[in-house]
Amino acid sequence: MKLLAHILCLCLPLPWAQSNDEHAQGHAHASAVLDRCKGLEMDAVAVNEEGIPYFFKGDHLFKGFHGKAELSNNSFTELDDHHHLGHVDAAFRMHYEDNPTDHDHMFFFLDNKVFSYYQHKLEDGYPKDISQVFPGIPDHLDAAVECPKPECDEDSVIFFKGDDIYHYNVRTKAVDEKEFKTMPNCTSAFRFMDHYYCFHGHQFSKFDPKTGEVHGRYPKEARDYFMRCSKFGEESDHLDRERCSRVHLDAITSDDAGNLYAFRGHHFLRKDESNDTLKAETIENAFKELHSEVDAVFSYENHLYMIKDDDLYVYKVGEPHTHLPDYPKTVENELGIKGPIDAAFVCQDHHIAHIIQGQHIYDVELKVTPRAAKNQRPISLFKKVDAALCGPEGLKVIVGNHFYNFNSTMQFVASRALPEQHRVSMELFGCDH
Ligand SMILES: *[C@@H]1O[C@H](CO)[C@@H](O)[C@H](O)[C@H]1NC(C)=O
Ligand SMILES: *[C@@H]1O[C@H](CO)[C@@H](O)[C@H](O)[C@H]1NC(C)=O
Ligand SMILES: *[C@@H]1O[C@H](CO)[C@@H](O)[C@H](O)[C@H]1NC(C)=O
Ligand SMILES: *[C@@H]1O[C@H](CO)[C@@H](O)[C@H](O)[C@H]1NC(C)=O
Repeated sequence: MKLLAHILCLCLPLPWAQSNDEHAQGHAHASAVLDRCKGLEMDAVAVNEEGIPYFFKGDHLFKGFHGKAELSNNSFTELDDHHHLGHVDAAFRMHYEDNPTDHDHMFFFLDNKVFSYYQHKLEDGYPKDISQVFPGIPDHLDAAVECPKPECDEDSVIFFKGDDIYHYNVRTKAVDEKEFKTMPNCTSAFRFMDHYYCFHGHQFSKFDPKTGEVHGRYPKEARDYFMRCSKFGEESDHLDRERCSRVHLDAITSDDAGNLYAFRGHHFLRKDESNDTLKAETIENAFKELHSEVDAVFSYENHLYMIKDDDLYVYKVGEPHTHLPDYPKTVENELGIKGPIDAAFVCQDHHIAHIIQGQHIYDVELKVTPRAAKNQRPISLFKKVDAALCGPEGLKVIVGNHFYNFNSTMQFVASRALPEQHRVSMELFGCDH
């Protein structure tokens, strides 16, 4: 099947990716094989009510930073009922707390129509003409992004068409046409973690929403930062990408000496305890038997316990790390719980591996054989935990691009309110962009 998909993809006329020609969009059905790691130009990008980015391409939608495309009309039933164009021109999420009627609604633009959705339901009376809802804004847009105060002077939406840019004041409906001289024409745009990104081709530039200025080394490759793609672009800067990627981590741990390891896809970052130096390396290189894409890692008595699907790999920490003979063994046999699991950690001076699977946490006594996962407790704060790390300062729980600090496992399990949100890229890896 994989091979077939590959062949189909090679045969597809690539230019539809670039084309605004409506007839060319007729290839929609073949796009069942859409692969964002091949360098797609997205039609539209917006975050949903929960902050999960949605990338639209043709009549398909990619949710989050990895995973397969699905038909957009599975999630947004009425999209395209009228036109059958098979694509969205632009999308954004209205996000202004003092605008309760539209707050957190997702707006989609197709041709001359605008659709407003709340929790995947089309609002009454929609679709409407763009000119009726956003007077002064042209049809056939390229991109749109919300821009709340104070990131813009007023609560605004920024619309893009060709090299024209419109700041639309949500309250007064005034339109201010601006020139963003240094910015490429955007085919999609979105706001993510208070930053503004313009996508063009399979690249993106970060811009200042007020002035349109692009600072720093842009454009960058979208696949490096907003998608989880395995081996492409050997030339890309692995360290910068891994530090700054907004894609969630798979696993994180620190060894007995305090060196930090953070795993994502085919790579991992290592931060040395002694000098805080960060290094990015392939998993294949340092943990050959495991190859890539680990689910959870914990550190215990100078060994790294690395879990992938239902397999447990154990490495003795060293230069190089050495894989113990007879491993991998099944997680079920070794830890008494059936894989896959989402996250695992051991806190200082304890002999308990805490295992997170879905919305439950279990304790595995490591000194006891056979080992068993006991003391199942529900986790109420998160639907899914990506990774967790326990150290002298307590527990860090990583969900998406954020982490949360807890004083102890007990406090994490007992908590009913989210503590302060911290950014993984910035606060763990010092990425300032
Ligand atoms: C969803 O879109 C696909 C492809 O564009 C189309 O074949 C299908 O009929 C649509 N489904 C609904 C329920 O509109
Ligand atoms: C940007 O859009 C304008 C149309 O508004 C077009 O004339 C120009 O060629 C485009 N620039 C690029 C680099 O595609
Ligand atoms: C940081 O420390 C590690 C090991 O302790 C060493 O290999 C590395 O070269 C050091 N880096 C710098 C920049 O000093
Ligand atoms: C966690 O520890 C900090 C510092 O020791 C303390 O100020 C805080 O109150 C503790 N939080 C809880 C919920 O115990």
